[in-house]
Amino acid sequence: MDIYGILGHPTGHSLSPILHNAAFRALGIHARFEIFDVAPSRLPAFFKRMRRAPIHGLAVSLPYKERVLEYLDSFDSSTQKIGAVNTVYNENGVLRGFNTDFSGAISALTKACSATALHELRGKTVVVIGAGGAARAIVYGLQQEGAEVIILNRTQSKADTLARDFGCQSGELSTLFQWQPNILINATSVGMEPNIESISCDPHYFRVAPRHLLVFDIVYRPRITQFLRLAQEAGLSILTGDSMLLHQGAVQFKIWTGKSAPISVMKKTLDEALCGLGAK
Ligand code: ATR
Repeated sequence: MDIYGILGHPTGHSLSPILHNAAFRALGIHARFEIFDVAPSRLPAFFKRMRRAPIHGLAVSLPYKERVLEYLDSFDSSTQKIGAVNTVYNENGVLRGFNTDFSGAISALTKACSATALHELRGKTVVVIGAGGAARAIVYGLQQEGAEVIILNRTQSKADTLARDFGCQSGELSTLFQWQPNILINATSVGMEPNIESISCDPHYFRVAPRHLLVFDIVYRPRITQFLRLAQEAGLSILTGDSMLLHQGAVQFKIWTGKSAPISVMKKTLDEALCGLGAK
């Protein structure tokens, strides 16, 4: 049996096990996806063991997305530019790092765009709120797709640094009202359970936002965050964070197994899990 798993600390919130175990079952792959909750001091020993023991692949969660880089043998170019890994493939003892967060976000956004008047990401103006690791991956993906990106962050200096790295614009969060984006993304963890009333931008923005704005939140618990609820109430289109989780998981699955992920099975499993958790 092939072993895969999620590496993090803590890992209690992860939906990756149910997502990937459902995919393995659907394709009749003799594999199991486990949880590896590893304290920082145990990381070196964990990776030593991983090279020898048959752990075929890892999904890497917080707080290790940057720290695992030092234990890997190679990365693809996007991982290098983003500076964070969320997927490891053990190819006969050689540990290869990938980042599927950005491709997951882009797949979800591309699908959402094609279902609206936006049609595609190319040439669209996108405001990204946040300047942490998740924002970095999303900004990279958007730039690759030819979108025009503006990064706004509570601490402007961090937005400026990120914007410099990727050659886009940046500003203070309060300047949100100045821009006329096609898409607005919350790329922070603000609004995640249990702080479900929190929101990363001025809640009044949605009332004056462009009429055809698509609003995306990377937070998926709750599924409809306060950020998305206010957008919805203002009549704007929304995209929920579980879509990014689903698509990044599908890319991970392909890297590990070489097979196309059974995405409809994974989506159904995720829907059921989120409904069971009350994240409707
Ligand atoms: P990750 O790597 O998961 O993206 P992170 O690096 O801790 O997480 O980044 C968190 C992001 O959320 C940052 O952009 C942070 O803003 P600061 O750079 O000013 O800290 C943003 N953030 C956190 N709490 C926030 C809040 N209450 N309002 C607005 N932004 C917030």
